[in-house]
Amino acid sequence: MSSPAELRASFTPVETDRLLLLAVCEPDVDAAFAIHGNPETYRSHPDGVARAPAESAALLDGWQREWREVGFGFWAVRLAGDSRVLGFGGLTKRTFHERSVLNTYYRFDPSVWGRGYATEMAVAARALARRLLPELPVIVRTRPDNGAAQAVATKIGLTRAPELDDHMLTYVSHWQLP
Ligand SMILES: CC(C)(COP(=O)(O)OP(=O)(O)OC[C@H]1O[C@@H](n2cnc3c(N)ncnc32)[C@H](O)[C@@H]1OP(=O)(O)O)[C@@H](O)C(=O)NCCC(=O)NCCS
Repeated sequence: MSSPAELRASFTPVETDRLLLLAVCEPDVDAAFAIHGNPETYRSHPDGVARAPAESAALLDGWQREWREVGFGFWAVRLAGDSRVLGFGGLTKRTFHERSVLNTYYRFDPSVWGRGYATEMAVAARALARRLLPELPVIVRTRPDNGAAQAVATKIGLTRAPELDDHMLTYVSHWQLP
């Protein structure tokens, strides 16, 4: 497997048709709080909403640590040529059902929902995973009432794996026995 530095060089920056995906950094804290502190973005999970900027700063710290230690993690997502952060998302390495997986995250400002941005970002994430970390399944875990998150998981080619569900629904790229 590639080193964290080698992975980082491939995982950031990433350009898609419309978007620029950049590893999160400290100045993204205001955008992180604007999105993670907005009850609208936590409609299916009200307990998760950030109450203060310090919570978002702590979140961002953890995300930056992932980039340093693993070489990939969450991006701040912008339209190419525009400084406004539209959302956050990407892949993190996790253990799930006793195996290493790449968990996919996406959380965008409600003002830009429905324009295909989360799908565009997640397609890029999945393509990088397939090319650079093919041994690791890509997964999405989402609440049963989160239709948009489920739609994005399906649109990037993941399939439902009900045998891996708990209170969350599970979508996987593949799931071979270790
Ligand atoms: C999930 C989320 C990232 C999607 O962002 P987005 O940029 O609007 O996503 P896209 O536009 O790429 O695709 C959304 C798809 O969901 C569909 N959709 C929206 N609401 C839906 C619903 N209630 N049921 C089914 N499908 C739905 C849209 O029609 C669209 O599909 P289409 O392009 O085929 O029409 C965004 O809603 C969000 O940030 N939600 C809050 C955070 C969250 O729940 N994250 C997921 C945690 S697992």
